[in-house]
Amino acid sequence: MSIKHLELSHLSIEFPTPAGPFRALEDVNLDIEKGEFVSLIGHSGCGKSTVLNIVAGLYQATKGGVILDGKEVNEPAPDRAVVFQNHSLLPWLTAYENVELAVKQVFKGKKTKHEMREWIEHNLELVHMEHAMHKRPGEISGGMKQRVGIARALAMEPKVLLMDEPFGALDALTRAHMQDSLIEIQARLNNTVIMITHDVDEAVLLSDRIVMMTNGPAATIGEVLTIDLPRPRERVKMANDPRYNYYRAEVLKFLYERQKNPQSDTKSQTSEKNVDEKASSTNKQDEEAA
Ligand SMILES: Nc1ncnc2c1ncn2[C@@H]1O[C@H](COP(=O)(O)OP(=O)(O)OP(=O)(O)O)[C@@H](O)[C@H]1O
Ligand SMILES: [Mg+2]
Repeated sequence: MSIKHLELSHLSIEFPTPAGPFRALEDVNLDIEKGEFVSLIGHSGCGKSTVLNIVAGLYQATKGGVILDGKEVNEPAPDRAVVFQNHSLLPWLTAYENVELAVKQVFKGKKTKHEMREWIEHNLELVHMEHAMHKRPGEISGGMKQRVGIARALAMEPKVLLMDEPFGALDALTRAHMQDSLIEIQARLNNTVIMITHDVDEAVLLSDRIVMMTNGPAATIGEVLTIDLPRPRERVKMANDPRYNYYRAEVLKFLYERQKNPQSDTKSQTSEKNVDEKASSTNKQDEEAA
C-alpha cells in the first residue's frame, strides 16, 4: 500500500475566547494526492484560513492532525510555503531581498550565489515584478506586494503551496494573468496546491477538486466536487463549455442554496459581503463577456 501524500485527518480546533472555547472546525477529513490542485471555498468566517494554517503548521489542531508524506506536521517548514491572505512581506527589505531571504533558507549550500540571484530574478519575472524588484513594500501597490509573496512562495519550490486568496487584491486583468501563470507553473512543477478563493470561476478553472465548507461554528467539509475538465484549460474556451458551466452552477448552488449566507441565521457573524459581492461581480463579468 502506498503512503498517502497529504492527509488531513479528523481535524477539529477550538480557540479560547473570553466567552469560552470556540469550536471553529469539526472533523475535517481530506486526502490530497501529489500534484493535485485543491480549492477551498465557503462563506466568510467558516474556517478556510484555519484549515490552511493547520496544514502550514502555524496552528495546532485540538483533535486530529495533518500528515505529509508519512510525517506528522507540527510546525512550519519550507516544504509548505504559504501565500497569506494579507501579504506579509518584511517592510524594511526590498521585493528582491524578501524573496532572497526565503531562497537562502531553502537553497543555502545547494545553489551558488550566482545561481541564487538568477533564481530570485526568474521568480520575480514570473510574476512580472522585474521592474520593481528593488523597491520596498511601502513603495509598491497591494497587488504588487501580493505578487512578491507569490514569487517568494514559488521560489522555495515547496512540496505543498498553500495560498489564502492569493489573487483577491489584484485587478481583473492581472488576476487572469496570474491564474494563467499559476496553471502553467503548477503543470511544470507538479506541486500540490491548496488554494482558498471566493471566486467560483477561479476555483473551477484551476482546480482538480473543489472542497466546499459548511458554515461555522464547527465547520466541516460539506461537499467535494471533482472538476473533470481536460488540461490545459483555456479560459475563453471554458466559458462556452457546458461542463464548465455545470460545475460553476454546482458551487453556486452549494453556497447560496445549501449553505446560505450565515448572516441571515446569526447576527454575530462577520460580513458576508465578500462572497456576495465577488460572486455578483463575476456574474457581471460573465454578462459583459457574453
Ligand atoms: N486565533 C483565533 N482566535 C479565536 N477565534 C478565531 C481565531 N482564528 C479564527 N477564529 C475564528 O474561527 C472562525 C474561522 O476563521 P477563519 O479565519 O478560518 O475563516 P475564513 O473562512 O478564512 O474567513 P474569510 O473568508 O473571511 O477569510 C471565525 O469565526 C473566526 O472568528
Ligand atoms: Mg480567511
